[in-house]
Amino acid sequence: MQRRLQAHTKRAIAQIFSQLDYAALGAIYCDEGGEAFWRDRRGPCQTLGLKLAEVLLARLPPQGRSLYVGAGVAEIPILAMEALELQQTVAAYNLRSEEVLVLNQACAAHSFQFVCADACSAEGSFDHLWIVSALNDPERFPELSSLSYGRANPTTFDPAAFEQERKAVLALTDACLSKLSLPGLVTTSIEEIPWITDWCLKNNIACLVEEEDYPTAIVEDPICFIRVGTETSESRKVGKSASPGR
Ligand SMILES: C[S@@+](CC[C@H](N)C(=O)[O-])C[C@H]1O[C@@H](n2cnc3c(N)ncnc32)[C@H](O)[C@@H]1O
Repeated sequence: MQRRLQAHTKRAIAQIFSQLDYAALGAIYCDEGGEAFWRDRRGPCQTLGLKLAEVLLARLPPQGRSLYVGAGVAEIPILAMEALELQQTVAAYNLRSEEVLVLNQACAAHSFQFVCADACSAEGSFDHLWIVSALNDPERFPELSSLSYGRANPTTFDPAAFEQERKAVLALTDACLSKLSLPGLVTTSIEEIPWITDWCLKNNIACLVEEEDYPTAIVEDPICFIRVGTETSESRKVGKSASPGR
């Protein structure tokens, strides 16, 4: 059953969004038109984030640990829910130093911060892994990203570069999923499901991709939940847990 966020958590989220430096974020998120982008996306980012936070609230145990790979503005409501309402320890990683600075300024009054480092360096184990639009990050993995999103141009696609990127994403997936205590929960985008299910298959770990997906506001990849290490009658079904296209 879905639970509602408490008023103090909603107030904290609204306060953080009001503190963000949208001019700086515009330059970080967009080559041009950053101001218009944030005028348009700021509201949906907050409202869709709140909805997603409520969906996740019912799925996480209190006082656990969550690892975020590639946490940005879109993740603020969910991080706030985890830290302020569930008293989770959140480790939120992002490789863009300018963005981490802006995010941490806006969150300064609260009990969570972003870290500018590779999420692979996170220590300890986690019962929730958030990895959304990171395994197909166009900045780090341009060829792989173009293939994942169906934008690859066969006349210019570079298979050698793709092969390098695939190795790097397999290593990143392995490093992060190895930190998940089982049974655990993974939140990811539809496009990233194959990396998670492939890792589970190779490691002989059951997983179940939940049916429903949820809209997001920035990258606009729908998000879904994958239960990892929970053996159910559903979790071994071919075409569900192990097929790239869900
Ligand atoms: C396309 S953005 C997505 C941001 C956000 N998750 C969203 O959906 O709006 C990809 C982000 O992943 C981050 N990233 C990629 N690989 C990472 C890694 N190994 N550790 C931490 N962050 C990573 C990048 O720095 C970037 O901030």
